[in-house]
Amino acid sequence: MTVHDWQSLPLDIDSGEAIARTGLDYRLVDTSGADTFGDWLQAGNRGFHAPDSGEEQLGAARDALAYRRTTGVYDATGPNPTWPVATTGSWVSDLTLPGGGGIPMWAISNVTVAPTHRRRGIARALLEGELRTAAAAGVPIAGLTVTEATIYGRFGFGAATSVTNWVIETERARWVGPTPEGRIDFIDRERAAAELPALHERVRRSNPGETSAWTGLWRRISGTMAGQQDASKIRAVRYADASGRTRGVALYRLSGDPTDFTKHELTLIYLLTETADAYAALWRFVLEHDLVDIVRASMRSIDEPVRWMIADQRAATVTVRDHHWLRVLDVPRTLMARRYAGAGECVIRVTDALGLADGTWMLRVDDNGEAKVEASTEPATVTLGVAALGSILLGGVRANTMYAAGRIHGEASAIAVLDRQFGALETPWLGFTY
Ligand SMILES: CC(C)(COP(=O)(O)OP(=O)(O)OC[C@H]1O[C@@H](n2cnc3c(N)ncnc32)[C@H](O)[C@@H]1OP(=O)(O)O)[C@@H](O)C(=O)NCCC(=O)NCCS
Repeated sequence: MTVHDWQSLPLDIDSGEAIARTGLDYRLVDTSGADTFGDWLQAGNRGFHAPDSGEEQLGAARDALAYRRTTGVYDATGPNPTWPVATTGSWVSDLTLPGGGGIPMWAISNVTVAPTHRRRGIARALLEGELRTAAAAGVPIAGLTVTEATIYGRFGFGAATSVTNWVIETERARWVGPTPEGRIDFIDRERAAAELPALHERVRRSNPGETSAWTGLWRRISGTMAGQQDASKIRAVRYADASGRTRGVALYRLSGDPTDFTKHELTLIYLLTETADAYAALWRFVLEHDLVDIVRASMRSIDEPVRWMIADQRAATVTVRDHHWLRVLDVPRTLMARRYAGAGECVIRVTDALGLADGTWMLRVDDNGEAKVEASTEPATVTLGVAALGSILLGGVRANTMYAAGRIHGEASAIAVLDRQFGALETPWLGFTY
């Protein structure tokens, strides 16, 4: 599907009617119209408790996000009818599955409903409309990253990857990891923005849960969006191997303690590496930075090797939280696109209140970890909601755990098969929000 295909998909009729019943108007927003799209972006800022954008920031945001299918809900009776009271943006990205394959994913972002119009069912209409539109367009799965963990389960999304947030006391940590031979150099922010897309394209297939990114993301992370606040504080370094090839990039910012110059905090904004050497070298650089006593890093993997590269693991306080939520729309296509950790067969019944993924399937995994999935009339040995299917899809949580949590039901022997099949091949991780 090309950009133009998804941008011009018609609005969902049922959602349009549900919104019309509340006296409001559901519209596709023309992202080439500077004023209309500008008002939509400002409404999005307001929805996420962010300040209004200045003209320069607005122009940069328009350029960065114009490719998305952009919808708004408008209230003609309000004093500001050109500002939407609800917003959503969506596009098709490429989701990495276990084994390194990818499937098209309907990525959903910018979901906001103005506080003046909350809890009237607007978000429900928007979300259900997104899912029906994606399914009708043949996109097998939808995804989003969330502000709150309480919103999207009801629409069939399950938390599929978690991330860790780190606070490390540098003096106590002490580096005991490898000391690679390549070199680290500062690069300017523009160069970081230019290097990151290709590096990410090379790396993202190794992490189930990663998705293709967009230019505006790299500009924001590296501080090169026009008008970006505090961008001048962002520092960029790259690790190059012996041949001079960039193998990793780290972006960070420092903030000082006005009473003690030795107590700076280093916030690692983003770290992306494609080799173990780059990973070790850039973490060491960060942890051994002079005049820094605390390093903070967020949205890291749940299985960071750096834990094993410091002498005192207790120097790091690590918290875990849900991050990437997935919503299966087409069960056979999604399940056949991943590789599995164990062979076996089971008949799974998937329940879905929206009816999009509802059904019973025979899942057969061969010794190569490849699956065949066919509709089945046999009695199911495992029953699970579509949200639970999204959660186990990447191996981010074990089927056994979801069974113990009452999210999956079935015969013990079938749960054991499912647990073996869906076990993680690689640690699922998504390193950014969208
Ligand atoms: C979250 C938000 C989009 C909800 O919009 P809304 O129009 O008020 O939601 P709806 O009225 O359609 O509610 C749909 C359902 O979700 C529930 N719900 C809505 N917001 C919720 C929240 N923050 N936490 C838990 N449940 C929530 C409602 O109770 C309702 O439940 P039910 O239909 O199952 O009984 C809106 O409050 C908002 O814009 N918040 C700030 C921005 C934000 O966090 N956006 C999410 C980005 S990931």
